[in-house]
Amino acid sequence: MTSRTAERDTYAAALATSNRLDALIDEHAAQDPARFRVLTGDRPTGPLHIGHYLASLRNRVRLQDKGVETFVVIADYQVVTDRDSVGRIDSNVRDLLLDYLAAGLDPARTTIFTHSAVPALNQLMVPFLSLVTDAELRRNPTVKDELALSGGRPLSGLLLTYPVHQAADILFCRARVVPVGRDQLPHLELTRAIARRFNSRYAAGRRVFAEPEALLGEVPLLMGLDGTKMSKSKGNVINLKDTADETAARIRAARTDLVRRITFEPERRPEVANLLTIAGLFLGQSPETVADEIADGGARGLKQVVTAAVNEGLAAHRARRADLARDTGYLTRVLREGNARANEVADETLAMVRATTGMTY
Ligand code: TRP
Repeated sequence: MTSRTAERDTYAAALATSNRLDALIDEHAAQDPARFRVLTGDRPTGPLHIGHYLASLRNRVRLQDKGVETFVVIADYQVVTDRDSVGRIDSNVRDLLLDYLAAGLDPARTTIFTHSAVPALNQLMVPFLSLVTDAELRRNPTVKDELALSGGRPLSGLLLTYPVHQAADILFCRARVVPVGRDQLPHLELTRAIARRFNSRYAAGRRVFAEPEALLGEVPLLMGLDGTKMSKSKGNVINLKDTADETAARIRAARTDLVRRITFEPERRPEVANLLTIAGLFLGQSPETVADEIADGGARGLKQVVTAAVNEGLAAHRARRADLARDTGYLTRVLREGNARANEVADETLAMVRATTGMTY
């Protein structure tokens, strides 16, 4: 079996599990919120864009509103794994927090925290590191990609071990469900292995840590407006906080093709298909329906529809974001309270780990 086939099979299996999980959440979350405790998070590298919004942010709010206990990590220590340009982490954290709150994450129900402010979470790294091999870490696809990109430059110890750090993000709060994109599945597998090995090596098989499961979004991978991978540094994204005019200008400059009739053909017309997908996701319609409505309107007609869909879809988010941005005191309070709650949970877990490993003095 080639590794690509293997990856596809793993993905298909993960998708099936994920769909079952989704159904269970619908059925039981309200009565038993802790059973489905969710952890997700982002690196604070700046404001979020529509890709984040459509693929994960909307879904987090949906889970929260179903009554699931949700933890959201602002992974500030992960930013420093990306060596060179770190930028101002505090203002990036603020941008991220604003997008979370504007999208509808409610700090009364959802714990939003920065992992650098939770010492016990980070301390879990030590026993967890004892449970993985360096070969395993070097095999991790993200680490491998970074290695390949580094062109032989030395790799920081933190980059090599960051999947273990991510396991600590998940296991510190005993999360059971991790909404992730396909690219994060190997990290989740490692987290599951760490949970299993911890139980067998340190707890004589007792289930101290449960193995968390992935909840995969159904949203197709979106591309940037130039048809390449969405990336803030390439300037091919629409940020949630951009103004309506900035959004219109970006979409006007988006790549399309010269065929007048608009059709949804992802293989043959990837840029047009991408724009149709974006509009469809905001409008709650299939991209084919959006295409049929534009029909002979050409690239101009397509761009008008996409611009209106994005700007209307984000108007409320943008207004709330602007309001929240004026209240710095509130933002500080939200983070302090989130961090305090995360610390409580992390301290409990660390106490449990110490007791299990015979290190309670
Ligand atoms: N690595 C994730 C990203 O780059 C962010 C993240 C950090 C995360 N810790 C996590 C995601 C734990 C899920 C669970 O987007």
